[in-house]
Order: sequence, then C-alpha cells, then structure tokens
Amino acid sequence: MRSLRTGSTLASLLTGVAMLGGLLLAAPVAQAADAPLRDLAAAKGKVIGTAVTGSKLTGTYGEIAAREFNALTPGNAMKWESVEPARGSFNWAEADRIVAFAEANGQEVRGHTLVWHSQNPGWLTNGTWTAAQLRQLMTDHIATEVGRYKGRLATWDVVNEPFNEDGTYRQTLWYNGLGADYIAQALTAARAADPSAKLYINDYNVEGVNAKSTALYNLVKSLKERGVPIDGVGLQAHLILGQVPSTLQQNIQRFADLGVDVAITELDIRINLPADSAELAQQATEYKQVVSACVAVARCVGVTVWGFTDSDSWIPDTFPGQGAATPYDENFAPKPAYHAIAEALGGTTTPPTGACKATYSVVSQWNSGFTGQVRIACDGASLSSWKATWAYGAGQRISQSWNATCTQSGAAVSCSNASYNGTVPNGGSVTFGFNASWSGSNPVPVVTLG
Ligand code: G3I
Repeated sequence: MRSLRTGSTLASLLTGVAMLGGLLLAAPVAQAADAPLRDLAAAKGKVIGTAVTGSKLTGTYGEIAAREFNALTPGNAMKWESVEPARGSFNWAEADRIVAFAEANGQEVRGHTLVWHSQNPGWLTNGTWTAAQLRQLMTDHIATEVGRYKGRLATWDVVNEPFNEDGTYRQTLWYNGLGADYIAQALTAARAADPSAKLYINDYNVEGVNAKSTALYNLVKSLKERGVPIDGVGLQAHLILGQVPSTLQQNIQRFADLGVDVAITELDIRINLPADSAELAQQATEYKQVVSACVAVARCVGVTVWGFTDSDSWIPDTFPGQGAATPYDENFAPKPAYHAIAEALGGTTTPPTGACKATYSVVSQWNSGFTGQVRIACDGASLSSWKATWAYGAGQRISQSWNATCTQSGAAVSCSNASYNGTVPNGGSVTFGFNASWSGSNPVPVVTLG
C-alpha cells in the first residue's frame, strides 16, 4: 500500500494542496506545499502519529489521517471498558476498524492501553477479587487483547500512568491488589502474547526532569536490571501554552541512555479560549520545540499528537474554557502548529501570510451522496466578492448549494458569493455548503479562489 501511495505522489501532493486549502490570492503562484508530515518524518526515521476516533475515519478526517501520519493510536477504542464492557462479552469493532485503516494506509499502530486505573469496565472495578484472581484477570486481558493483534501492532502502552506527581506509586486497583510488581507482571504477559511488539510504560507530567519522571526513570532502570521486558517510555506531553519544560531534551536523553526507546505519545498544547494569532504563533514555536527535542535524540522514535484537529480533542470537555490544542482547527485547516511540526521534521513551508484561502472539506458522506463545504478565510487581506472554482475528478455532481450560487458544467464547478456574504474582512471567514452525488471514489479537488 505504501508503494501504491508513493506511486501517486503527484496526485496526492495536489490533493494535499487542496486539503491544506492554501491557494494564495496575493501571490500569482500558490506557495508550494511541503511533503506530508509522514514523508518528512520517514526521511528522518521518525514516527509522526495521531490519536484517532474510529467512527470518524471517512471524509476529510480520514483523508488527513491517512495522508499526514504514519502511525495511529486509538484514542479510546482499545481501552478495557471499550473492548470488554461486560465480562466475557467483547466488542472489537472500533479497534479492528482502526487497525484495518492503518494497514490499508501503510501506518503503524500504537496499542493504547492495557493496564490503567481509568476507563475500566464497572464489572472489573466494582468486583471483589483476591490477589490471585486480579492477577489472572489482568494477564488474561493482556493475553486476549495483545494476542488478537499479534504481529500487527508496532507498540503497546502496557502500563499507563502508574505514578503520582511526587513519584510515589498511584493507589489503583492494580497497585492496591498486586503491589508494584503488577508492572513487571503486565510487561511479561504482553511479551509472551506478542514477542514482536515494543512494550512501553506511558505517563503524563514526566516530560521534564522532576520527581515523577525520576521515579519512572528509577523504575525502568530496575526493570532493565531484572531482565523484565521493557522497550520504551511514553511521555504523554499534554502541555499548557508557555509551559514546555526546559529539561525536555535532557530528560528524553537520560531515558535513552538507559537503553530504552522514548516516544512523545499524546502531544497537545492547550490555550485559554479564544486563542488569538499571537498565541497560535507561540503554540507553533512550542510544537516545534517538542518535535525538535525528539528529532535531536536518536532513540526518540517519534511524536504522536492527541487528536490532529480541534474538533476531535479531549481538552474542551475536560478543561472548560481551554482548547485550540491541536495542529488543525475545527474546520480541518492547518494551523501554524502544523507548519511548525513540518519545519521540525525538516520541511520548509512557512504558513501563508497576507492572503485569503479556501479550504474544501467533506462534512459527511453516505453511499451515493455527500455534503461538502468550502471555507474562505482571510488573514492579512480582505475580499469584497469571491468566486471559488474547482474540477471534479471522479464524476461528482452538485445538486444543491447554500450561502453561494454554484453552477456545474461537466467537471467544472463555479461557486460565487451570495448577495449577503461577498465581504470577507481581514481576520474573518465565510462558509458555503453543498450536497452532491458520487460513486466509486470521492477525491478532494484543488480549489482556486478568484
Ligand atoms: O462514548 C461516550 C458517549 O456514548 C457519551 O455520550 C459521552 C457523554 O459524555 O461520553 C462518551 O465517552 C467519552 C469518551 O471519552 C469517548 O468520547 C467519555 O465520557 C470521556 O471521559 C472519554 O474521555 C477520554 C479520556 O481519555 C478519559 O480519561 C478521552 O476521549 C481520551 O482522549 C482520553 O485520553 C487519555 C489517554 O487515554 C491517557 N492519557 C490522558 C488522555 C487524556 O485524558
């Protein structure tokens, strides 16, 4: 599949230009789009991943997930409460879907997560278990889930979030029932179930050198000394704007020096809403800092963002009033952070400035039809009227439009502003939508703004 994809580089690059929505009005020629992030990362031998929601992997969300990333982490689909909500009754649908999508697109999968204190099913957390029963439940769960995907997953977050902020062990179902050795037992069971998967311990607030990361460091050191299978540490990196730890690279390096891999597993950088352009620029600088720290350390295998679009981020639900934490906005337009990741991976694109751009996206799609939208946004420029044109490459036909007058002749589509939305001020945007038919495939066209 990877070679197929490489074989259509021009087509996918053109698609990339459309998806990035970056056609400049101010300049006569559109700025060349960089290669997708996954190609930049691969050239450096690194992983660039994203957490995903399985049910969303169609339309524009699916196209960006496939085009830009070479690794996927199921955001929730592989957690215990998702896969075994009732004891002995399994639901693998979303997890299977994500693994199949990744395989179809030449992406690796990071399994997340096997042994955690959160998102466990009620039957497990409400039960009364002897230590022997609890150990059996844990090792059976690992054998079942890791075994199901044996040979197909690159990595497992075997144990998630075992520490408190002060470096003591978190009091959980597992620690309280089995003692600290549950960690070694879980890793050993995972190795037995899939000898080819890299096995990680993953935690948050362990990005810089501090009490918690030092506890993790000491644990990994002692596991290595005991011969317990441990291949890597995951630094989640749920960061707050302005708070990238200054010791990030030093901390990555000290873990690497223990002889394990390191991955940034859940990167996002949250901002108090609404985020202004200065904050988005600062966020970009900080994304670049984090990715660059990983690029600088040979044993840092890569970076995964915890959702690539603000429309699929956990932040606004958990931290009301905060958000804008990911590299794409809610309309799938790349933010400065996207370009900063590209730069850290060796790309050269700088974000377009002083221009208006059109972003085409498929909002929803069913067997014979779809709803699309085009968003025209200006930053450093403005419009008093507009016309968006594109050519459909696969026989799509528009049947209805709103907030624009659209005509179609053969493949050529032309949409002009309605009487009430021709003006797009500097810093503003307008959106129009349409319904259309499709069959076979529904590729995203290149939109020209004129
Ligand atoms: O699926 C139900 C849905 O049916 C229901 O209508 C809705 C109502 O609230 O809830 C939905 O479940 C939510 C689930 O995400 C799926 O969207 C849960 O309430 C919500 O608590 C859950 O949040 C997840 C969170 O882990 C739970 O701790 C986030 O999506 C997920 O991104 C987040 O991921 C964790 C990592 O696994 C570990 N590191 C921290 C990270 C952020 O918390």
